[in-house]
Amino acid sequence: MDNRRTFLAAAGAVLAACATKKDVEADAEPSRIGKPLKAYGERAPFEKIARLTPTTKQMENGATRTPLADLHGIITPSSLHFERHHSGVPEIDPAKHQLMIHGMVDRPLVFTMDELKRLPSVSRIHFVECSGNSGSEWGAKSAPDVQRGFGLASCSEWTGVPLALLLAEAGVQKGATWLHAEGADACKMTRSIPIDKGLKDILLVYGQNGESLRPEQGYPLRLLVPGWEGNVNVKWVHRIKVSDQPQYARDETAHYTDLMADGKARIFTFDMDAKSVITNPSGGQKIGSQGLFEIRGLAWSGRGRIEKVEVTLDGGKTWKPAQVDEVRHRMAFTRFRMPWKFDGTETVIASRAIDETGYVQPLRDDLIEVRGKNSQYHNNAVKFWKVNADGSVKNVEA
Ligand code: CO
Repeated sequence: MDNRRTFLAAAGAVLAACATKKDVEADAEPSRIGKPLKAYGERAPFEKIARLTPTTKQMENGATRTPLADLHGIITPSSLHFERHHSGVPEIDPAKHQLMIHGMVDRPLVFTMDELKRLPSVSRIHFVECSGNSGSEWGAKSAPDVQRGFGLASCSEWTGVPLALLLAEAGVQKGATWLHAEGADACKMTRSIPIDKGLKDILLVYGQNGESLRPEQGYPLRLLVPGWEGNVNVKWVHRIKVSDQPQYARDETAHYTDLMADGKARIFTFDMDAKSVITNPSGGQKIGSQGLFEIRGLAWSGRGRIEKVEVTLDGGKTWKPAQVDEVRHRMAFTRFRMPWKFDGTETVIASRAIDETGYVQPLRDDLIEVRGKNSQYHNNAVKFWKVNADGSVKNVEA
């Protein structure tokens, strides 16, 4: 707390000095009548934050990542949510889209979008993270910055219908244990999901951050499976089959399984474990001058609420609690902050998240000890950044 008070006092002095200078400049600007009204808003023309797009055209199968280090708070603008699709983004007319629930049910059902939207709805804030996020951080090819190393994760407010409601209406038969959710994209992307999760908290969502879903996010309807790997949050969902076994679909056998050191693979690894990353300062950034600075970052856990976040300023020897923004939503991004004075000393920084189950985000070596380095998936290791004497920041594992 002492740290914080010192920071605020010093920040006050800096602010007073800055404000005086800016007032003079602002007064020098002539006032002019601004632009006219618009039907749909746009950001200021000075704002250029964007997702990197692949240099080679990957129309059918590709990904873009969220520039987390350039954003504020916990909500990802829908326009910057990461994208991952396996056969391009379909254009679906919501008037023609239907959802079928069938298989081991007493009453197979088909819903139109209008029918789904009439049902009791909920809005919840949750992250979605591809299990391949931070896959680069297993080995020698570490990503140079937060977008490339951590950007397959985003957080939105989602609105839709609890799947449990529709399953109750359909009447799940005794012995049913799995759901097979299928998308309406060209590859009919399908994942098997234990029915218990469907009865607990899965949503069929049509709203994202106050608007309809973006086409890239599954318009007009997707699954939102809180805390579970992105791939099971099936987009453009049009069919859910109730079954007594998993389907062993392509994307849960050839992909999205975790190859271990002994050659065996983990399958149906759904939970996204607690994770955090310092977004400022982070790889690729440069601190312009010495002085006061706020270390900022994001933490999240697929198993519930973030309990606390700790930050090290000495390469992991000691850890101090960061300030964590309230409200802390379950299975959602949580923003953390810590005041820091950069005095030109080379410093190795990192954060680690602790969730409400008591789970502590592991160090990379500890994670590799258990899981080896073959897998591309489920890397939630602590990320160290090195702030060099000149203020440039590098990925220590790069
Ligand atoms: Co997995």
